[in-house]
Amino acid sequence: MNSEKQKKIKTNSAMNIKNILFAAFAGCAFSASAIAQEKDKCIINIKANKPTAEIQPTMWGVFFEDINMGADGGIYAELVKNRSFEFYKPLMGWKVEQTKFEEGTVTVLNRLEKNTANPRFIRVKVNNAGNKSLGLINEGFRGMGIKKGLRYDFSVMYRQPAAGIKLHIELVNDKNEIIGSASLNPSSAGDDWKKESVSFNATATEPKAKMNIWFEGNGVIDLDMISLFPEDTWKKRPGGMRADMIQMLADMKPGFIRFPGGCIVEGHELETRYQWKKTIGPIEERQLIVNRWNTEFAHRSTPDYFQTFGLGFFEYFQLAEDIGASPLPILNCGMACQFNTAELVPADQLDPYVQDALDLIEFANGDVNTKWGKVRAQMGHPAPFNLKMMGVGNENWGPQYIERLEVFQKAIKEKYPAIKLVTSSGTGPDGERFDYLDGELRKMKVDIIDEHYYRKPEWFLQNAARYDNYDRNGSKIFAGEYAAHSERTKDAQKKNNLQSAIAEAAFLTGLERNADVVNMASYAPLFAHVDGWQWSPDLIWVDNLHIYGTPNYYVQKLYSTNKGTHVVPALWNNKPVTGQDSLYASAVIDKNSNDAIIKIVNSSSSEKATQLAIEGVKKIASSATVTVLTGDSLDNINTADNPLAVGPVSQTISFKGKKIDVTLKPNSLTVVKVAMK
Ligand code: AHR
Repeated sequence: MNSEKQKKIKTNSAMNIKNILFAAFAGCAFSASAIAQEKDKCIINIKANKPTAEIQPTMWGVFFEDINMGADGGIYAELVKNRSFEFYKPLMGWKVEQTKFEEGTVTVLNRLEKNTANPRFIRVKVNNAGNKSLGLINEGFRGMGIKKGLRYDFSVMYRQPAAGIKLHIELVNDKNEIIGSASLNPSSAGDDWKKESVSFNATATEPKAKMNIWFEGNGVIDLDMISLFPEDTWKKRPGGMRADMIQMLADMKPGFIRFPGGCIVEGHELETRYQWKKTIGPIEERQLIVNRWNTEFAHRSTPDYFQTFGLGFFEYFQLAEDIGASPLPILNCGMACQFNTAELVPADQLDPYVQDALDLIEFANGDVNTKWGKVRAQMGHPAPFNLKMMGVGNENWGPQYIERLEVFQKAIKEKYPAIKLVTSSGTGPDGERFDYLDGELRKMKVDIIDEHYYRKPEWFLQNAARYDNYDRNGSKIFAGEYAAHSERTKDAQKKNNLQSAIAEAAFLTGLERNADVVNMASYAPLFAHVDGWQWSPDLIWVDNLHIYGTPNYYVQKLYSTNKGTHVVPALWNNKPVTGQDSLYASAVIDKNSNDAIIKIVNSSSSEKATQLAIEGVKKIASSATVTVLTGDSLDNINTADNPLAVGPVSQTISFKGKKIDVTLKPNSLTVVKVAMK
């Protein structure tokens, strides 16, 4: 921008009526300042009758991975850590409390030959115990978030030669005061495992409670699957998910949900890859494995991070259905994480992996009389889950990936030609690795290419036109993982600040404008626990009791809840708005509601006068909803105490005619929605 123009903008903004965000000038007599401002105004022509692309229902979705305590300790509402004693250290998360020291009171036993999935249990010898002389304490996932008045459901699997031991269950706060209690008399005797439950209400709210189990009586008892769930799970399902976290997803109205990751699919080594068949069926038979983020980053080591699979593929499909999102499972393609062991299954031994993929389609869609359809029905869902797409491999690369993908593609397309396959273009959006994969995948005519970009905010601004020249007739694009990474702070955290959100918002105008090529997009990672994260930034943050969306969340939500049905041109001087004068824009119409929706990003530090000229329609309404996301500094973030420091603010503006004047705030995303007549 030349200095003359800069000067003018300064003068004009100084003359602007302070604190008035939007001004509707159409049809008014102009003052001198308004005339000057009019001259510099960016006029964006919205060609509302010239749709260029249909927007896929999948366009804006979510990427879920068990990273940052996303599943265990996150959306999976189980409060007991290491409930089945299967962590590498069997008593991790537990403490044995006894007033009189006695060896061997609590021992860990292994019944591998009888239960390969969940072999360990504990044996407690109770020798005339009472008055809190022998107990077990579970610390929860960085404590247990307990809410006053809420019901908590305790359950345990046990066996004992004879009845005679009573369990006193207590929740205690950080001062060791009891904030909820119950007792249980396991009544059955014999060799069989039984489950018993008891429920009680909490008397106080506590972010980091612990659970004590005191033993009273005499005898020996074996215990396993010691569990505590809150009553207020998503849809009140017993043993279900944390409702506040799922609600945040539902609020986005996501077009799809990708699961279970991420690198978690690949595993550090093949042994610890994600295997969906091991995540379904009764939870006590689901085999726990280490979470690969456990030791991935030395600076954020999380040695107590495991995958219990209380949340498995059935639950993911159910979740997708609940929130109206198309399920997108990603499967291992016979390759472990190439940043770690890079183990490969020989290409001629891929059969079990391919079979897992075929069986998964049957599990999701098959008739109840098929082998896997029957399993789904037995788990409580006879109706199909309507699976339409599946990912083969996460961030895999090189000829070894292409070789394996070919095997999957052939087998899946032969049996299920309608299933769309999502394929990997590696770890980044450019360079030799990307170019090779992109070339090979296009030669294979794959359905969808998954591109990932974790880059600085500047990259997102510079790449808003990335897809403008992509092949319109080739493979579709899934912008599968993206996040603008601001600088690291002292504690190794890259913050979800306004700067990153605005850069993403600018980039998303480019995805939307190119919706004929880009069919899906998701930010990554999705969730992080403030006390248990390994990777930042992340879309939504939680502690044991609270949740807040980041500015980036609100950007995603503004796009996904203003998706529209068709893209229409938004042009400044006949060109797409891709960064001229720090402005970015895209527009859609919604043929169902007959709205035009325009998204405009101002990534500069000064206000910008713009005019939206809606063309190709007879009339538009005389008012529009204008929603703005901004802040007073690029460093602005949201926190649990101030969850909407950067959040969308809506207002209605009135105008005459088909021209809408909008003054864009510095560093802002503005969404204008107007009804067409
Ligand atoms: O989103 C975090 C990680 O980033 C994902 O697991 C992986 O696919 C990517 O490297």
